[in-house]
Amino acid sequence: MQIIKNFKELTTLKAEQKRHFVPTMGALHSGHLSLIEKARQMAQPDDEVCVSIFVNPIQFNQADDYENYPNTLEADLKACRDAGVDCVFLPQASEFYPQNFSINVTETLLGKNLCGSTRPGHFDGVCTVLLKFFNLLKPSAAYFGEKDFQQLAIVKKMVLDLNLNQNLEIIGVPTFREDDGLACSSRNLRLSSDQRATAPKLYKTLTEIKNLLLTGKNWKSTHSTSKEKLERAGFTVDYLELVESATLQPTNSVEKPCLCAVAASLGDVRLIDNIIIQHG
Ligand code: PAF
Repeated sequence: MQIIKNFKELTTLKAEQKRHFVPTMGALHSGHLSLIEKARQMAQPDDEVCVSIFVNPIQFNQADDYENYPNTLEADLKACRDAGVDCVFLPQASEFYPQNFSINVTETLLGKNLCGSTRPGHFDGVCTVLLKFFNLLKPSAAYFGEKDFQQLAIVKKMVLDLNLNQNLEIIGVPTFREDDGLACSSRNLRLSSDQRATAPKLYKTLTEIKNLLLTGKNWKSTHSTSKEKLERAGFTVDYLELVESATLQPTNSVEKPCLCAVAASLGDVRLIDNIIIQHG
């Protein structure tokens, strides 16, 4: 497995090589491994699977969140090796964002609500880092988890709007869950054992909401009872929203396919999750 630590070493990558790219911020878990596995499945035998590990400073709107982001580099490299990854890119922030760095990519439609409104600047940081990765690594496909549904929608939109789609396909991979339903996340490592026992209630609540809405309950009352329930369990709810899955615009009805998305914290650990709600 090749490990690339700076832009100069990137020149050793073959230009004609088809590359399947899994961008990560490290602290790799089963969710990341499912993205790598999907990339391996989609890749032809001669194609390359490349993983980036980079805690992107410009997508954090809170300094302590960035500083406390888990770092498990040695274990991550071993996991990549074991998963058959061909190449790992480990850029340094100082080279990636030199002092005079002054360009940002801003998406203005899909990023208005959910994490876009509660984490200002977050998706600008995500789009900017990804556009740079796409330019540097020239992948033919890139893989993203559906846990970050809004991120996936925005990345697809960026690729379309900036005409990167001729050479690059964005592939969404279903959320990977622990046996108790908790969506895999690098942040789960920071939960205390009591918080870890509470955390699955997030997905349990989403599942209950789905069942209630599909059997005709209205969103307003479902929203307030579900939010209260989460708060009683110990969560601080950042948002609990129902949006149309195609546009990510808020809705009250499940007539069209919808997404119920939640962000809630246990202590200082912020978790997100979502569920698709559609008839038939
Ligand atoms: O989903 C993530 O881990 C990050 O937002 C990503 C896509 C690696 C960009 O930094």
